[in-house]
Amino acid sequence: MSRVVAVSGAASGIGAATARLLRERGDTVIGIDLGNAEVCADLSTPDGRRDAVAAVLDKAGGTLDAVVLCAGLSGLDPRLVSVNFFGSTALLDGLRPALAASQSPRAAVVASMTVVHPTDAELVAACLNGDEAEALKVAATAVEEGRGRQMYPSSKAALVQWVRRTCIQPGWADAGIALNAVGPGVVLTPMSGGLFDDPEMRAAMDRAVPMPLNGHMGPDVVANTLAWLVSSENSHVTGQLLYVDGGAEVTVRGPERF
Ligand code: NAI
Repeated sequence: MSRVVAVSGAASGIGAATARLLRERGDTVIGIDLGNAEVCADLSTPDGRRDAVAAVLDKAGGTLDAVVLCAGLSGLDPRLVSVNFFGSTALLDGLRPALAASQSPRAAVVASMTVVHPTDAELVAACLNGDEAEALKVAATAVEEGRGRQMYPSSKAALVQWVRRTCIQPGWADAGIALNAVGPGVVLTPMSGGLFDDPEMRAAMDRAVPMPLNGHMGPDVVANTLAWLVSSENSHVTGQLLYVDGGAEVTVRGPERF
């Protein structure tokens, strides 16, 4: 049955592949991105998030069957914390009532396999406390002190913890909303493209994210997983981080963790 799905990051990479796949299946997609989408908004700011929620609700007409959040930043700009964590959680909170009006509501966010690597506990705590000013301060300090690379896995680890906390809160599981995350390995998109230009960076990435099963993947691989997680077929999977990483997580952490 045709569903109405909001997809953030719909203008590029994983979000674009997801939007395309869902449209091919007959769904109505409301894409959200900085530009080139049905809803153009900057998810790094509270105003941009409010505008995005209002515009999606307006276009959806009160009922939304699924939300797939792919918008994200990597690198060394502290604003990645605002987009990756606060941008995603604000959309989920704002769109939850419209999801609850659906017969089979689902939501999924894109985290990262890199959450298995060291994270900044102070940054994760600031995110989970909902304190964006403090999170940005901690992130800026991390960059100054040469620990900026921890910002990305920290923002995604906080997002996964938020998903796990929230999925069983009133208004979520009891409203039938399945809420999950995916943890991709290396996906060939504009975000990762720059990393391949530098052989040292590429070698470091392959050490951090070793992918014995089929190597680096295209964005359609993650899109297929997201499409199932937000389909009506997914009646009982919630609160999970599903690694889509060619065996990277099990290689790094070993078989004892699951
Ligand atoms: P991408 O760079 O191709 O797409 C990201 C999209 O997010 C872009 O269209 C961009 O405009 C949008 N975006 C960024 N900042 C925004 C803002 N302030 N407001 C609204 N939209 C904004 O990247 P890709 O690879 O498709 O990434 C999608 C998600 O997957 C991200 O959350 C990323 O962290 C995650 N991911 C990517 C991996 C990779 O290897 N490419 C690996 C693991 C996770």
